[in-house]
Amino acid sequence: MKHTVVMSSPIPSIAREILSQRYEVVEHSASGTRSEETMALMAVEADGLITLNHDPVTRRVLESNPNLRIVANYAVGVDNIDLSAASELGIVVTNTPGVLTEATADLTMALLLAAARRVPEGDRMVRSGEFHGWDPFMLLGASLQRKRLGIIGMGRIGTAVARRARSFGMEITYHSRSAHEEAERELGALRLDFDELISTSDFVSLHLPLKAETRHMIDRSALERMKPGAYLINASRGPLVDESALADALTAGTIRGAALDVYEREPAVEPRLLPLDNVILLPHLGSATEEARTEMARIVATEVTAVLEGGRPRFQVN
Ligand code: GLV
Repeated sequence: MKHTVVMSSPIPSIAREILSQRYEVVEHSASGTRSEETMALMAVEADGLITLNHDPVTRRVLESNPNLRIVANYAVGVDNIDLSAASELGIVVTNTPGVLTEATADLTMALLLAAARRVPEGDRMVRSGEFHGWDPFMLLGASLQRKRLGIIGMGRIGTAVARRARSFGMEITYHSRSAHEEAERELGALRLDFDELISTSDFVSLHLPLKAETRHMIDRSALERMKPGAYLINASRGPLVDESALADALTAGTIRGAALDVYEREPAVEPRLLPLDNVILLPHLGSATEEARTEMARIVATEVTAVLEGGRPRFQVN
């Protein structure tokens, strides 16, 4: 009997090309955020399940099928999956690290530059017919030269952002559980504790996974301790930031601006952010390059194959 691999949504075709050589492949059509119940129904027929980062893979989903051997998340973040339940049930969970690092670092720099130089405001001005000629005072932003970037979470993506920012003349500081000697040596990165980093950075960029201990790490009090001219950049996970406190801080001018790719209750966005000019809002595009998404698809397919053939996956997270 052939194993069945279920994809909760379509992903680049390389995954199906690899998997259909050996397995029955069931590809569900895309339909936004899934409920736990829908995921459980999908899991029932799966020996291998390929999920997106917003699919809730709860204990109930994992328990719905005793034959389920692997959940391959089409993402680097795995906060949508109950990892301890998966381990208890002997189900392997994998992610797609590495291949989306550069894409996500590029997008982070795009957010940072767009916020500092007010790119979306300029675009809106031209489209609305408000551009009446060059003006010495029009849409003045912030230079990156000699500004301090505080990176919270100096893993693969944080380090890739640091490298880019360094070439823009920024001074790099970071907060991380462990020291990164290479970044310190090559980029002159300075390791700081959380309080010092947020109170001295001109730009704060988040690059941490979502866990109980990182939820709301940027809360009202952290925002109050940031410099009044500072910007907050988030291309990691929305719940790291208290979005309601951020809307208050941006409205009151406690900080100068923010640029977000992710949201606390994604895809919902705090409505008070929508009319603000000092926040940039993107629809979770961090890894959205054709190259990264294709490589992510190749990884989930090879991870599922490895596990169903009794081998070892490369990127097991539990
Ligand atoms: C996307 O958000 C990912 O975790 O890969």
